[in-house]
Amino acid sequence: MTDSILDLDRRHVWHPFTQEQIAPPPMVAVGGKGDRIFTEDGRELIDLVSSWWVNLHGHGHPAIARAVAEQAARLEQVIFADFTHAPAAHLAARLAGLLPGDLDRVFYSDNGSTAVEVALKVALQYFANRGEDGRRRLLAFDGGYHGDTVGAMSVGKSSGYFRAWEGMLFPVEMVPYPSTWIGDEDVSAKETAALDALEAALTKDVAAVIVEPLIQGASGMRMCRSDFLQGVAERVRAAGALLVFDEVMTGFGRTGAPFACGKAAVIPDMVCLSKGLTGGFLPMGATVVREPIHQAFLGESLGQAFLHGHSYTANPLGCAAGLASLDLLMGADCQARIAAIEAIHGERLAALAARGKIQHPRLTGTIAALDLGEGGYASALGPRLKQFFIDRGFLLRPLGPVAYFLPPYCIGPADLHRAWDTLEAALLEDWPYAKTGPGAAAITKAP
Ligand SMILES: Cc1ncc(COP(=O)(O)O)c(C=O)c1O
Repeated sequence: MTDSILDLDRRHVWHPFTQEQIAPPPMVAVGGKGDRIFTEDGRELIDLVSSWWVNLHGHGHPAIARAVAEQAARLEQVIFADFTHAPAAHLAARLAGLLPGDLDRVFYSDNGSTAVEVALKVALQYFANRGEDGRRRLLAFDGGYHGDTVGAMSVGKSSGYFRAWEGMLFPVEMVPYPSTWIGDEDVSAKETAALDALEAALTKDVAAVIVEPLIQGASGMRMCRSDFLQGVAERVRAAGALLVFDEVMTGFGRTGAPFACGKAAVIPDMVCLSKGLTGGFLPMGATVVREPIHQAFLGESLGQAFLHGHSYTANPLGCAAGLASLDLLMGADCQARIAAIEAIHGERLAALAARGKIQHPRLTGTIAALDLGEGGYASALGPRLKQFFIDRGFLLRPLGPVAYFLPPYCIGPADLHRAWDTLEAALLEDWPYAKTGPGAAAITKAP
């Protein structure tokens, strides 16, 4: 008798972000189409989290699948130090055209964490190349998450995920983040305090400030206003440091605009991209920098160059997927779907908030979020709500007590309304963990 997939998995596979001893066994995915994931045991789940925020147009989109297959038959991979190729050049030009200002130069890597590492390393070497060796410090925002490699963990250490590795992280000063929501009366005061703290921290030795623009994802879909980002940009520029926007999650339409920087009317010095870059088909990252930054790396000596690279840099399959995905994203049909998702989110969030069953309702573009109670990532609220949704045919992955919808753009209005109906049902059924108070406190703990 042959072993089942689950038997083999149980014996040989180690899953990310999972306590395997107590978590239910993983579901065995056998297919995906549109907003649905199909499992071996015959279930059909609507993917409300775009499979960790990567999928834009639905699973197995035929246009992207075809582009990848055609590219695979032509050229699957080539060393990018000595070569270039059509998909890499075209994708870089498309990204430069979509991003504001002179964000024109694309450095490819493998994932969101590497896109961030590249930005941090470029920032430090940029100043060293210009003879400003003293600028070596990095600033980041409370609650920011930027990935799981050492540099990315260092700038994201306040997100609360990295206790085990504190000793290997380099020092990064954290400044307050004015997390806000619909009806937040204190937002202006929080923004002023955060900007004052940033200004005080922006001493002459700061090389770069990194921020997830408009939405801090992993720490609980914590949102901020465009005005705040404009204030950040003003202060960072005045201090002579570089501003890095980590758009690994916010890029490619999630905020309702192609990129959060455009929506916020800010031109940062660098933008980190990944996740939706390939429409969710292949792992790839990109760090897009303003051209003057790139110029500082040109010269006669190899030492002035950016001596950084990954084996699969600018993988042709990923670039081909990226081009096909951008064609879909910028089409009128997709833009209309994005607007429709935002409209439904807005209507349903307002109705739920009016019933007083949720806290901190918030919405930016296609991402809607709310708090169901207190506690951190390890809160038991998350797994229970997740199971409630799975039992009703939806994949939801709450971040502790934070429930959020971040669906692929192909989701239809009826399915999105059903998702909101399900959340409403969880709350109206007087779902035992939907309340704060002693009962909830007993089952929650900070991460
Ligand atoms: C804002 C942000 N930056 C960076 C990352 C890291 O990306 P990856 O998991 O591809 O390394 C993530 C992942 O969730 C993210 O949300």
